[in-house]
Amino acid sequence: GGPIVTDQLWCSKPDVPQDAPSPPSRCCPPMSASPPINFTFPDPKEPIRMRRPVHEVGPEYMAKYERVVAMMKALPKSDPRSFYQQGHIHCAYCSGAYRQVGLPTLPVQVHFSWLFFPFHRAYLYYLERIARKLLNDPEFTLPFWSWDIPEGMQIPAEFVNKTSPLYDAFRDPKHQPPNLADLDFNWKVEKNLTGEQQIQCNMWVMYKQIVSGATLPSLFYGQPYRAGDSALPGPGTVELAPHANMHAWIGNGHYPNGEDMGAYYAAGRDPIFYIYHGNIDRIWEMWRDIRLAANGNDRSKTVFSDHSWLDSSFLFYDEEARLVRVTVRDMLDTEKLGYRYSKVAMPWATARP
Ligand code: C2O
Repeated sequence: GGPIVTDQLWCSKPDVPQDAPSPPSRCCPPMSASPPINFTFPDPKEPIRMRRPVHEVGPEYMAKYERVVAMMKALPKSDPRSFYQQGHIHCAYCSGAYRQVGLPTLPVQVHFSWLFFPFHRAYLYYLERIARKLLNDPEFTLPFWSWDIPEGMQIPAEFVNKTSPLYDAFRDPKHQPPNLADLDFNWKVEKNLTGEQQIQCNMWVMYKQIVSGATLPSLFYGQPYRAGDSALPGPGTVELAPHANMHAWIGNGHYPNGEDMGAYYAAGRDPIFYIYHGNIDRIWEMWRDIRLAANGNDRSKTVFSDHSWLDSSFLFYDEEARLVRVTVRDMLDTEKLGYRYSKVAMPWATARP
């Protein structure tokens, strides 16, 4: 029992499928000379910044994201802020490179358990801070891809241009614009629905996974996962669908493991990963608001009080390349983290099938 603790001395080889087209031999972050510092919140006097959807920010704003990805790609691979290392973070926590402290046979795995939402929030938080620093733009926020509403159901155009740093050749050619996302994608099976039918199907998936099927924190976040437990105890509703389904829909099913987005070790290599996950992080906020409204604003109905959850911790390098220890507890309030999501319609909130 107790929290899952990540430690840099407990990182070694990832467990990557044998048939991976370009497997990383390692994906642990560079070693920090000094021990990690503890997370601190940004100054509460700083303004709260808004994360906005790709379909609203416009091409000039998207060009900033494009520019910062290019800058990260140009950093030396040894720099923890490089795109290479940022992509490897996903591999380190999802392919068995990190091991539980003192338990070398057990990986630290952030999927299919209650660690899923907080881990990915922290991942984006540091990527966004690194982006601000590199762009020298303190107002920059990560755009998010709102694939849950009809306006956002195609892969954003910026990611499709072959000469863009946002392009990734490891995506399914059949799922490019103008094709609509299938939030219920069943690995290799194409539904071949009309646009209207696909939108309706997506609305039902959202309604079921966020509204009717996730009335309790345990249903939404996923199963408890504590020190000494084996990995993957069970996902929350959203992690399974649309989250995992959409990973597979974006990745290329012709590669053995659906690279890039369809495979844990490779997903962080695709620049679409970060704007894709922005929407997952926002769905966490929407779920919380729905539950608060249904429970007379009782916050205890939207989080766990178990210290094994609250004190589980991850390591990230910040914008100054300092290693920071972040706990789940630190990740529960986006406003304390200095951001919020701009309001986007939720047409699925009443899409009862
Ligand atoms: Cu760590 Cu979308 O997965």
